[in-house]
Amino acid sequence: MVKSFFATRIYSAPLSPAAGTRALNREISREAYIFRDLDADGARWSEENYAGGYTSYASLTDIHRRSPTFAALERAIDKRVAGFAKSLGMDLQGGRLGMGTCWINIMPTGSHHSGHVHPLAVISGTYYVSVPKGAGGLKFEDPRLPMMMAAPPKLQPTPEPLRPVIEFAPKAGRLVLFESWLRHEVPANRAKTDRISVSFNYEWI
Ligand SMILES: [Fe+2]
Repeated sequence: MVKSFFATRIYSAPLSPAAGTRALNREISREAYIFRDLDADGARWSEENYAGGYTSYASLTDIHRRSPTFAALERAIDKRVAGFAKSLGMDLQGGRLGMGTCWINIMPTGSHHSGHVHPLAVISGTYYVSVPKGAGGLKFEDPRLPMMMAAPPKLQPTPEPLRPVIEFAPKAGRLVLFESWLRHEVPANRAKTDRISVSFNYEWI
């Protein structure tokens, strides 16, 4: 008998019914461009580190404390993160997971974000605000990849749980959560319009 161990869990679900999300996304999108236009430090950092796009990752990471719209988003995500932590069997010992940082990503055509992890956090994730057709997905790597030096390739098509790389095709209004150590990347946006998302880190507090 073969059993699976050392599960790597990824959560993906709509944040709320479509009608509510459309209004929310319109407002987040409007505010995202306002923040971008005001954020000179972020523009400079993005120019050097974010391949043609804008992220407030290094400049404005407390968006959820600056805007009631993002504060409402935080409240909605809090519940999902608590449920995800439970599904991971985490014992928070009287504490909880709280949104420590939250930032905006605006990725025009050609913009991409290479492989990375999110240090100093427990759960990370992204809420998708606008994902035009062809915008590309979110790729996750098997965390054991560096250890598979002599592993043969996988049979095609590879069953999902055995794939070394998984690509999610996000849609506007969806939330994706993962453990912060899980390496991921955002392939280039091949659509003609901007892909907009909000990312965040949850800490054990
Ligand atoms: Fe990330």
